[in-house]
Amino acid sequence: MKALVLFGSPRRGNTYKLTESFKKGLEERNIQVEFIDVTKLNISHCKSCDFCLKNKGCIFKDDMEQIYTKIYESDIIVLASPVYFGTVTSYLKVLIDRCQPLYNRRFVLNIEDKVKRKGVLIFTAGRKNKKMVDAMELVAKYFLFSCNADLNEVIYCLNTDENDIEGAILETAYERALRV
Ligand SMILES: Cc1cc2nc3c(=O)[nH]c(=O)nc-3n(C[C@H](O)[C@H](O)[C@H](O)COP(=O)(O)O)c2cc1C
Repeated sequence: MKALVLFGSPRRGNTYKLTESFKKGLEERNIQVEFIDVTKLNISHCKSCDFCLKNKGCIFKDDMEQIYTKIYESDIIVLASPVYFGTVTSYLKVLIDRCQPLYNRRFVLNIEDKVKRKGVLIFTAGRKNKKMVDAMELVAKYFLFSCNADLNEVIYCLNTDENDIEGAILETAYERALRV
């Protein structure tokens, strides 16, 4: 089994710690985990050119090409991000928008994707109001749908403005990876 971690924080802080714990749990199960720091990739913004309505893939040839391949090769897709203005960071949003070719491949070009994947969302938020971060799950769901994945697990930590992430929540992330 293979897992793809799409990591969208520009720093190695709260989200990284949570993601690392989850990753350790997956590795404990001998799942092959590929960690991609999306902030280091060169991904152009979707221009809505409609190329992918008639052709497989995207007109742009950039780092997104390897992401498409890795998505197709994986059984578990992990989206990991701090909350920025209620949703994923812009690094991840650019990647997500570029997943329109995956959606069109299935639903417009009618090319079957035989692998049903599992999806995981990991996020951290500075504030403690969960309502404020509802959009995260919705965005993750739509993204995962284009990858033929469900949202199977949501692991999050709120209130990082006041408390550094540590202890129990890291243990929880590890344990959730053992059962996803
Ligand atoms: C540009 C920016 C926007 C943010 N927007 C929100 C927000 O809308 N809601 C929230 O609860 N926290 C927000 N935060 C706080 C981060 O989500 C929080 O500090 C998070 O734990 C940072 O994760 P990291 O340590 O992995 O970078 C924002 C932080 C930044 C830098």
